[in-house]
Amino acid sequence: MTGKKIIIIGASSGIGRSLAALLVTKGNILGITGRRRALLDDFKNKYSKNIYTSSFDIKETSTCQQYLEELVQQLGGLDLLIITAGNGEINESLDFSVENEMIALNVTGFTCVADWAFNFFQQQGYGHLAGISSIAGLRGSRQAPAYSATKAYQIRYLESLQQKAFHQQKRMIVTNICPGFVDTPMAKSPVKFWVAPVDKAAKQIIQALDRKKSTVYITHRWKMIAWLYRCLPSFIYKRL
Ligand SMILES: NC(=O)c1ccc[n+]([C@@H]2O[C@H](COP(=O)([O-])OP(=O)(O)OC[C@H]3O[C@@H](n4cnc5c(N)ncnc54)[C@H](OP(=O)(O)O)[C@@H]3O)[C@@H](O)[C@H]2O)c1
Repeated sequence: MTGKKIIIIGASSGIGRSLAALLVTKGNILGITGRRRALLDDFKNKYSKNIYTSSFDIKETSTCQQYLEELVQQLGGLDLLIITAGNGEINESLDFSVENEMIALNVTGFTCVADWAFNFFQQQGYGHLAGISSIAGLRGSRQAPAYSATKAYQIRYLESLQQKAFHQQKRMIVTNICPGFVDTPMAKSPVKFWVAPVDKAAKQIIQALDRKKSTVYITHRWKMIAWLYRCLPSFIYKRL
């Protein structure tokens, strides 16, 4: 992928930042976002050319789409938008404020950005929208109910947009990126395995976007776990 105009929502750290670093060195023009302006500025200073920054909270849905419009103006167009912004908390005590915060970001903020991008690409007649969901969205989780439920929402929402894109008969692609564990502070599960280095995850994500995949598991071996998760009967799953 080179010479594309790309927005990454949530590129101040983690997977989004790694994606941004790889994509800018491949000669793409990037718009990067996040709430921590200083980290976005650091990134821009490090890579200087072809980076535009915008600092806003996607939970603020009354202003989020306006920020996106302005960023596209700066980039001079848009080919690909990747939503990496998300939050995951263990919440065994079911503290509602914690659950509500995840719902506001992973559901409401996510939908606000996805809808804007889909409508933009539809009007333009082409474009690629990608969202980072999670393997956690495939089944429920007693440790992190809202995280798994909000990631399930993202998986279904992206699938809905894939179907919608197909029926538009335009050159629109929607990709669901479904990671297992990636080595960032977001990986908070008490039991972790197959934890991918963040650069490896970013490389595999870019490869999947290049191939215009509908769904990709990161790293690829997580496809096996996804299959197992789906097959496992509820009477066994609830005992885990
Ligand atoms: N790491 C894993 O093991 C793993 C596994 C499966 C799925 N995922 C998913 O991968 C995505 C990226 O996670 P990560 O591991 O890279 O975590 P991360 O380092 O915490 O990155 C999250 C990014 O989202 C941005 N963000 C958070 N809240 C935001 C808000 N309200 N408005 C705008 N931007 C916001 C953050 O920027 P600011 O804080 O500057 O706003 C940051 O750039 C998440 O959706 C996560 O659920 C991660």
